[in-house]
Amino acid sequence: MDINTITILAYMVSAVLFIFGLKMLSKATTAVRGNLVSSLGMLIAIVATLIHAGMDYQWIIVGVLIGGIVGTVAALRVPMTSMPEFVALFNGTGGLASMLVGWSEYYHFYHKIGPYTVGTAGIDAGGPNVVNIIAIYLAVLIGGVTFTGSCIAYAKLAGKMNTKPILFSGQQVVNGLILVAVIVCGAVFIYDPEASLAQLLFYVAVVVSLVLGVMVTIPIGGADMPVVISLLNSYSGLAACAAGFVIDNTVLIVSGSLVGASGIVLTTIMCKAMNRSLANVLFSGFGSSEGATGAGGGGPQGEAKAISAEDAYYVLEAASSVVFVPGYGMAVAQAQHVVRELGELLEENGAEVKYAVHPVAGRMPGHMNVLLAEANVPYEQLVEMDDINPVIESIDVAIVIGANDVVNPAARDDPDSAIAGMPIINVDHARSCFVLKRSMRSGFAGVENPLFFKENTRMLFGDAKESITAIVNEFKGA
Ligand code: TAP
Repeated sequence: MDINTITILAYMVSAVLFIFGLKMLSKATTAVRGNLVSSLGMLIAIVATLIHAGMDYQWIIVGVLIGGIVGTVAALRVPMTSMPEFVALFNGTGGLASMLVGWSEYYHFYHKIGPYTVGTAGIDAGGPNVVNIIAIYLAVLIGGVTFTGSCIAYAKLAGKMNTKPILFSGQQVVNGLILVAVIVCGAVFIYDPEASLAQLLFYVAVVVSLVLGVMVTIPIGGADMPVVISLLNSYSGLAACAAGFVIDNTVLIVSGSLVGASGIVLTTIMCKAMNRSLANVLFSGFGSSEGATGAGGGGPQGEAKAISAEDAYYVLEAASSVVFVPGYGMAVAQAQHVVRELGELLEENGAEVKYAVHPVAGRMPGHMNVLLAEANVPYEQLVEMDDINPVIESIDVAIVIGANDVVNPAARDDPDSAIAGMPIINVDHARSCFVLKRSMRSGFAGVENPLFFKENTRMLFGDAKESITAIVNEFKGA
């Protein structure tokens, strides 16, 4: 067996491990093993590529050391609540890497420097074929869009720029012109990539792709940001796939396609969870329609009724069914461990306890599941929105822990609300509802919440961890 055959076999093993790893990631019980299986696949792919390429490893070792140190420090220091913007940066760097691969391969080809590629097929003579040329253009284009789009998403999620959609008159015309530029540059480039005009238009395309990334992300904001993150994740996969075609690397094509496809699946799930179409998310600007109700004017009115931890305890002590509905505030307060402790105390007291998780609660897909799993909440107590809503009227107490948008009845009842149509967990239909948060402030979408003023709602103000701990202490002291 020659080195090419061994490399291709190693890539096949990697691809199979990626697919099995992805499948295992879809269930909380197998997710950790799925991560390990996928990592093993990646290790095999990297080792096979390095051995096959037989290159000078010193720069690779320097790169591994720098990347490893940056990654380790970031992973240790970035808090769980900042994961979404961290993921946005990951997507962005993936896009940038694909863009640079396409760029450098074109540079080599145009200036006739060295062998064209070091791919599995071992192509090193005769220059790129038309598939490679198209792939170079796509890797640069999608990679550039992913890079700047992710930078904007990072800035919005990290609060470094206003999260509101940026819309201006003539925006569609500008976007249309950019699209025309992309098509014209691409056609000329692919027709004759060796011409000096093609080289010029290639650099124009690099700039245009970076501008396009900004233009497609700025009109998106508010509660639509989760969709953008998963969409950019998908783009980074497509860019990697194109880079795979550029350098004829099978495993890059396979892994890029997997990321691209799973990102699109996740995007579709997110859109469904918010009852929006992808086109609506991308082009309409969250909550920017005339008359859309946000914070302030036109919002719900009335008086919110506060409750103390002691009184909350008396109600809970008598409850026979309780459902916890966690949201972003639980992550901020790091309240998951005390929540599980309270759940256990309630069960010991004879109550049936469930944890209802909304698909976009928190700031990233699966955010609440990760926190609850970390606190060892039994998987069988987790219920999805569609399963809890039909039975919520029979629940004695719904305890909302730092959730806001995902339990906002305005989404269901007010067609003019900026989040109208987004499915919610109907906590207001439970017999009584406790809302644990620090103030009357609105959530991520900036929309006022009529839940706080409902007859059966009581507000337990304060940090969620402190409030739950106070109730736990009441139980323990009883
Ligand atoms: P939000 O609507 O953002 O509400 C979170 C609430 O937590 C806030 O109103 C805040 O109120 C409260 N809070 C913050 N710190 C707290 C603490 N230490 N103790 C107690 N409460 C605290 O969260 P949600 O209901 O989970 O909804 C998620 C939102 O984020 C949706 O709009 C969703 O579209 C969006 N989003 C989701 C994702 C994904 S993929 N999940 C990604 C990006 C954006 P106070 O300030 O009054 O305490």
